[in-house]
Amino acid sequence: MINRRNLLSLGVAFAAYPAIANTAAIPALAHLDHDSDAFWDKIRNQYNVTGEITNLENGNWGIMSRPVLDNYIQQTEFVNEYNSYYSRRKFNGDYRKIIVRLAAMLDVSEQEIVLTRNATEALQNLITGYNKLQAGDSVLYADLDYGSMQSSMEWLKVRRGVDVIKIDLPEPATYQSIIDTYEKAFIEAPKCRLMLLTHLSHRTGLVVPVKEIIALARKHDIDVILDAAHSWAQLDFTVPDLGVEFAGFNLHKWIGAPVGVGMMYVRKDRIADIDPHRGQAPGNDKSIESRVHTGTVNLAATLSVPKALDFHNMIGIQHKERRLRSLRDMWVREFRDHKRIEILTPNDSRLYGGITSFRIKGKTSDDDNKKLANWFAEKYNVFTVFRDGIAKGSCVRVTPGFYTNKRDIQKFIHALRNIS
Ligand SMILES: Cc1ncc(COP(=O)(O)O)c(C=O)c1O
Repeated sequence: MINRRNLLSLGVAFAAYPAIANTAAIPALAHLDHDSDAFWDKIRNQYNVTGEITNLENGNWGIMSRPVLDNYIQQTEFVNEYNSYYSRRKFNGDYRKIIVRLAAMLDVSEQEIVLTRNATEALQNLITGYNKLQAGDSVLYADLDYGSMQSSMEWLKVRRGVDVIKIDLPEPATYQSIIDTYEKAFIEAPKCRLMLLTHLSHRTGLVVPVKEIIALARKHDIDVILDAAHSWAQLDFTVPDLGVEFAGFNLHKWIGAPVGVGMMYVRKDRIADIDPHRGQAPGNDKSIESRVHTGTVNLAATLSVPKALDFHNMIGIQHKERRLRSLRDMWVREFRDHKRIEILTPNDSRLYGGITSFRIKGKTSDDDNKKLANWFAEKYNVFTVFRDGIAKGSCVRVTPGFYTNKRDIQKFIHALRNIS
């Protein structure tokens, strides 16, 4: 239990109390090769996961590692104990330190990011707040984009009087065919002024060449809102690498923060192109903070972000990316040439991360794929999820986590072999 008396008995000045809650130890694993199984076995030990099922559905959100969970429990006790005495006096200072760290990580300025409760809040505020559309313009999104963001793009039709264009991304896709698909859409829609672009699809796992597409969009005078909900911390990039001006991120997927933390990015010179939030009092509307108005949030979740970043950095983003890809490669290799199975991400390593979906050839309905996912769970004790909304039909998504090991993947391979 952390309270003022304990802190004082430890000789900790009152002003330092938030730091004391950041005590959960992160293991020292620098002596191990971070791409080795020995290292990843140690990482697995950092997660408490149920033994009831082999969970290959880590796309919903990211389970917290034990140090982050311990920290979150400590922060929850701390915030509960200190209540507004903390939130009104000190929280803002702690929040700003978190922003400084996140800004450095993404190579952006502290004036360009603000925390949200999730990627949805960030992206919906961007889409609905974008104020440069005129009646008669058009906006564009793709079949692989996330459902509620697609709905927000459709919302623009009623509220802004724009035409909404939906395109289908190629399947199978190549690096160039994805770029060509977007370019063709831009040429065919000269009035297009805004598009939604998803970096890593939650439907199939496809990674889209966003840097090239954003550069092309700019040539056609089209602004891009990037959905990076699944790409950040699954893939290694910074904002300047992509050239993006508006983006939404999650910290509760691949960063491993508690559920309830997302982030909005707007390049400094573009903040005025997003309306201040409707909850914002007039007159104080220049900052990125004025684009989000959430009300009371889970302070403990926010305060646990530094521990999640420590754990993330201990592993290293390049190692995370390689590990997830190698677990995905392990099962995809077995089935790429299988006559009954379609793998929905290509072999080109620029076009996938840890997530990849598949379907049994010809089995494209929701029902077929729901049944298939259920079958994995009931007969083989392997949990996956069906996904819909893809132009060429539904599928089953397979998503390893950082605690997944090769035995888990082997179990899935065995199940898919039997089923197929
Ligand atoms: C591509 C994509 N965008 C946005 C979201 C929304 O994230 P959240 O539910 O955390 O707001 C998700 C969630 O899975 C997603 O996969």
